[in-house]
Amino acid sequence: MAPLDQTRKASRQAAPGDTGIASRLLAWYDAHHRDLPWRITPGAFAGGARADPYRVWLSEVMLQQTTVEAVKAYFRNFVEKWPTVEALAAAPAEDVMKAWAGLGYYSRARNLKACADLVALRGGHFPDTEAGLRELPGIGAYTAAAIAAIAFDRPAAVVDGNVERVMTRLHSIETPLSEAKPEIRALVEKLVPQTRPGDLAQAMMDLGATICTPKRPRCMLCPVREDCSAVLTGDPERFPVRVPKDDKPLRKGAAFVAERGDGAILLRKRPEKGLLGGMTEVPTTGWTARIDGATTADAAPFSADWRRAGQIGHVFTHFALELEIFHAPVKGEAPDGHFWSLAHEISGEALPTVMKKAIEAAIPGATKKQRPH
Ligand code: ADE
Repeated sequence: MAPLDQTRKASRQAAPGDTGIASRLLAWYDAHHRDLPWRITPGAFAGGARADPYRVWLSEVMLQQTTVEAVKAYFRNFVEKWPTVEALAAAPAEDVMKAWAGLGYYSRARNLKACADLVALRGGHFPDTEAGLRELPGIGAYTAAAIAAIAFDRPAAVVDGNVERVMTRLHSIETPLSEAKPEIRALVEKLVPQTRPGDLAQAMMDLGATICTPKRPRCMLCPVREDCSAVLTGDPERFPVRVPKDDKPLRKGAAFVAERGDGAILLRKRPEKGLLGGMTEVPTTGWTARIDGATTADAAPFSADWRRAGQIGHVFTHFALELEIFHAPVKGEAPDGHFWSLAHEISGEALPTVMKKAIEAAIPGATKKQRPH
């Protein structure tokens, strides 16, 4: 057997002794955790402190979308506007969509609202088990486990991308990540301690985000370096093993930015169902993940002096989109199904990032103007 394989075996057999790994991770978390607005002090659970399930849930749904750094400002804005689940339930859906705009995956914002409505109806209490949480809109296996562990101290196995990286390295798992999930989950289940499971989950997330990073991991600073079999391979970056994916298809289309003399921009609402459902947009040709739209001014929804204002690109989950941007001065009433958004109101519209890019290409700064004081 190759020495590498022996290493791997030794590490896997060491799994029942994983309490050592868990306690090293927890001690590291106590000293090096990131201060994040939804967290309570590490270890505070034992002293009777409780994380607010509403804040944990909100942060976890937001963190499904993007990085911790990007989420902080959205999270603060949400809890300032809506400090409780009841407050969020009482908010108009339109306002919630606007506050979410820019985070992406707008179906999640709709589920967020649906979940808040349901929890508020049930007296404002989130279920405290993984199974109970999974029944709520927008809460999948990962989010249920994270909330159960972090908010309710349940020994749930919380497996996100950071945890997958840490575990595939600790055990130098050669199976491609797409097929290694059950193995990773089983190893995490063995690792989860009965005390402080929520802190352990967050310790692994923080380790993955700050030390066990995708590129150039800082193994010298790692609290479980001695337990890590990828370190012994000399190339921890190789884990998790991935099978190269085909490139995303490239779709094309055009978007039309009609501007009134006072700086108002013509907008419309997208259909509720489908990509960016219910969000606001400038008129565009009918591209989808599978179909290109027209890319010339002939495809504009009405005639005007359309001038080409450049091209923007945006990458969605399943495809990349290239939009030709056209800009024209337009007067008069908004056509059916459209509305004029005043210059200082555009920044508050539920515009997805791709539409902000389209407007900015035509009128730089237009999506950032605030109401004059
Ligand atoms: N990513 C997802 N959930 C997280 C959390 N609670 N802390 C840090 N990163 C996270």
